[in-house]
Amino acid sequence: MEGIMSSNSPEIRGVIFDLDGVLTETAEYHYRGWQRLADEEGIPFDRQANEAMRGLSRRDSLLHLLDGLPRTEEQMEEMMERKNGYYLEFIKEISSGDLLPGAAELLHELRSAGIKVAIGSASKNAKDLIQRLGIADLVDAISDGYSVTRSKPAPDLFLHAAAQLGLAPAQCVVVEDAASGVEAALAAGMRAVGLGPAERVGAAHMVLPSLAGVRWEDILAKLSQPQLTPEPQMR
Ligand code: BG6
Ligand code: MG
Repeated sequence: MEGIMSSNSPEIRGVIFDLDGVLTETAEYHYRGWQRLADEEGIPFDRQANEAMRGLSRRDSLLHLLDGLPRTEEQMEEMMERKNGYYLEFIKEISSGDLLPGAAELLHELRSAGIKVAIGSASKNAKDLIQRLGIADLVDAISDGYSVTRSKPAPDLFLHAAAQLGLAPAQCVVVEDAASGVEAALAAGMRAVGLGPAERVGAAHMVLPSLAGVRWEDILAKLSQPQLTPEPQMR
């Protein structure tokens, strides 16, 4: 694989995966949890409104949902707990069968290629989910909702993950399904692979519909191009 690397982009040594919506379809469960809460509270909310909340921390998601509606800290704490209760109910049955297509294959491929792997997720449920998905042995480090104060789109979570891997930001690739996550990766000085529609992740260096059928070699070839810049349409 050495031969693919260009002389002026540092060698890629690590991949940092977002979790919800990248390795497993829990982004849908986060959405359903917020939808139920919004319905109970009589707050207008739908799938489209949820798109802007992808990747945001629990608190930032709630603030986005409330959109300026006044609530006390106590009420907000209760709402976050209620939503999390719904979410935990949804993920109760999750197992390795819930890894998204291509995820397990890519994780194994990275292991064989000697590329380090971290999870960089804003979720406070990330460790639990990683256990349930049975991928703990394929992951070298976990940065989650407890690791840093400033969440995505700040770069902090991914910088924390890179530090845990012992790598410089420029040696890392981030795989993300959220606009806020792509923004965080770019702010961290990392290369970004966006999963999903260009309207959402088009700012990434490489955009793919999903991880299905994706080979590490293909990602590496694309991201190692000397003149690599984020996809032009969203800059
Ligand atoms: C991110 C999800 O991974 O984690 C967000 O994309 C979610 O939707 C965030 O709000 C925080 O998750 P949790 O499990 O701590 O509420
Ligand atoms: Mg995500």
